[in-house]
Amino acid sequence: MNIQVYKNYEAMSLAAANLLAAQVRLKPTSVLGLATGSTPIGLYRELIRQHQTADLDFSRVRTVNLDEYLGLAPDNPQSYHYFMREQLFSGINLQPENCHFPDGCAADFDQETDRYDQLCRELGIDLQILGIGRNGHIAFNEPADTFPVPTHVVDLTPSTIEANRRFFERAEDVPRKAITMGLGAIMSARRILLLAAGEEKAEAISYLKQGKADPQVPATILLLHTNVTCLVDEAAASRL
Ligand code: GLP
Repeated sequence: MNIQVYKNYEAMSLAAANLLAAQVRLKPTSVLGLATGSTPIGLYRELIRQHQTADLDFSRVRTVNLDEYLGLAPDNPQSYHYFMREQLFSGINLQPENCHFPDGCAADFDQETDRYDQLCRELGIDLQILGIGRNGHIAFNEPADTFPVPTHVVDLTPSTIEANRRFFERAEDVPRKAITMGLGAIMSARRILLLAAGEEKAEAISYLKQGKADPQVPATILLLHTNVTCLVDEAAASRL
């Protein structure tokens, strides 16, 4: 795995944005896998800047998002749909019909998980952006006895619920369940960029150096992928 260490969050975000912008310039019909969380916000801000000042064109790009909370509708300000509109989509020229999410309010989750896996297969992800949870989760693939492969509904772990608490007014509002792209679709991406910033990610990142794929640290499945670039700031690299 190619691990690149940057001085700070801004430098890491700029490097990630430049890679993603290069992908879009080289292939204007790229399929991008997108992540939520605080980590990619700087990357999204820079993409908006390059769209507005350097003609970075998203009109033919398609996107698939990693996950969504169960029971939160797209217009709920805590939903990941809403987050993406606020942080990226409203500032660039993606066509709304080209932006895809798993549906957290689906009537039938068996059908919805199948639909999303099929969609990801049909589109074919060119470049997948990932953050990482403190416990090593990617998307909402939580630590488990085996690596979860298909898109699935997941019970979030206490550590993830606690980490997400900061985005909600009251502890009881933090969703306990989510629907997430599985590791199968993530690993099918042609190229993956994993971003991590801050000391609280240092332990999770340190597992990627150990070379052992362990389902208790879901991100370690990335060791089996041949094209992963891990961009970290110095704090997240402090245990490497
Ligand atoms: C959530 C998201 C992940 C994200 C993680 C880390 O669990 N489902 O995709 O990587 O949070 O978030 P942050 O970047 O805010 O630390």
